[in-house]
Amino acid sequence: MKVAVVRETFPGERRVSLVPAAIVPLTKAGWQVLVETGAGEAANFSDEDFQSAGAEIVGNRHAAFEQADVVLQVRCLGANLEAGREDLDLVRPGQVLIGMCDPLGSPEAVRELADKQATLFAMEMIPRITRAQSMDILSSMATIAGYKAVLQSADRLPKLFPMLMTAAGTLVAAKVLVIGAGVAGLQAIASSRRLGAVVQAYDVRAVVKEQIESLGAKFVELDLDTGDSEDKGGYAKQLSDEQVKRQQEQLADIVAECDVCIATAAIPGRPSPLLVTADAVRRMRSGSVIVDLAAERGGNCELTQADQIVVEHGVTILGPTNLPSEVPQHASQMVAKNLVTFLLHLTNEGKLDIDFKDEIIRDTLAAKDGQVQNQRLRDILELGPLTLPATTPPIDHLASGDS
Ligand code: NAI
Repeated sequence: MKVAVVRETFPGERRVSLVPAAIVPLTKAGWQVLVETGAGEAANFSDEDFQSAGAEIVGNRHAAFEQADVVLQVRCLGANLEAGREDLDLVRPGQVLIGMCDPLGSPEAVRELADKQATLFAMEMIPRITRAQSMDILSSMATIAGYKAVLQSADRLPKLFPMLMTAAGTLVAAKVLVIGAGVAGLQAIASSRRLGAVVQAYDVRAVVKEQIESLGAKFVELDLDTGDSEDKGGYAKQLSDEQVKRQQEQLADIVAECDVCIATAAIPGRPSPLLVTADAVRRMRSGSVIVDLAAERGGNCELTQADQIVVEHGVTILGPTNLPSEVPQHASQMVAKNLVTFLLHLTNEGKLDIDFKDEIIRDTLAAKDGQVQNQRLRDILELGPLTLPATTPPIDHLASGDS
């Protein structure tokens, strides 16, 4: 069986789906690994590095798709809407594609790949369960984004992060507010603390208080009257309009006092909650910095513009949407670990052996046999219930709730 790694074609994307160190477990499991020439270049992995690890270099993308049973990508079509279209002519019926494809944001792309009879696994749909932790690509990338967001804010801030007592006087530590204490937020807290900032963090889920405090930050409590603000899947519930208003008003007082605000609040599949209003930005000190990691889905700050640097009232607002690509070597290492673990989960004695009843596979399967498989995606696309061909093993429940 052959698995191919192709060059990423999304503009500015520097990650690669496998790194040389990840080839060995695949070859041991019976896979022959093909790598499109130059695929790892932007992440500092040469063709020779891949070859020495046991991969075969193929001269072009066409050849990789033509030979491979499985194609690994960081960004498949849905997560690469323009350049990714070129792959539609290369995909072969029955070919397995594994990567990120933004299924909830671009469900039409899943349908197009289904029309090509591809079997598509959307890595964003990996359930957040213990067994799947080493496949959880969103958590991997959020970890990197949380770290890099702090560095970007520190770079823009006209102050230092740590308190310094020098012969030239005492410099007061920067005050950082992290909004949303999920994976990216917790990493942002830890990274800000390591740089010496005084950190506080807010999340609508009160259960994260302990985690925030264990990283040395203060937990910000707001009076919203939310009761249990966590759903069954461990994600935040959506707030009522009244609660949103109260949240924005109370946060504005805290935002006004901070030098840096790292915003990471998100509810999967929904637009980003608006937490920092233009008014709140107006109240911040000149020179303050906001890094809005939620920019791709509209942003947590009213003034954020995706992939732009906005300066309003002396406050700099960054809305980067692909921070992991700025740390391509380690980001690729993590992506590779996630993809290899997933592929090995589909492998038995050197062959693809897919148990469609397995929770991880069931939740992740986006397209197969010409049909969009995930019921949540089918609902968005108004496709109605799935009709299974007689040859397809039954899939009991494909919708993954809010995960
Ligand atoms: P996560 O789901 O682990 O954490 C999000 C947190 O936001 C949760 O703790 C949730 O309780 C909290 N939250 C939701 N609604 C809230 C509200 N109204 N007020 C306060 N907190 C609220 O998500 P993760 O993995 O940490 O990702 C965070 C964001 O970063 C996402 O929008 C994700 O798409 C984005 N991201 C951005 C990257 C970039 O390069 N810009 C890269 C990776 C992730």
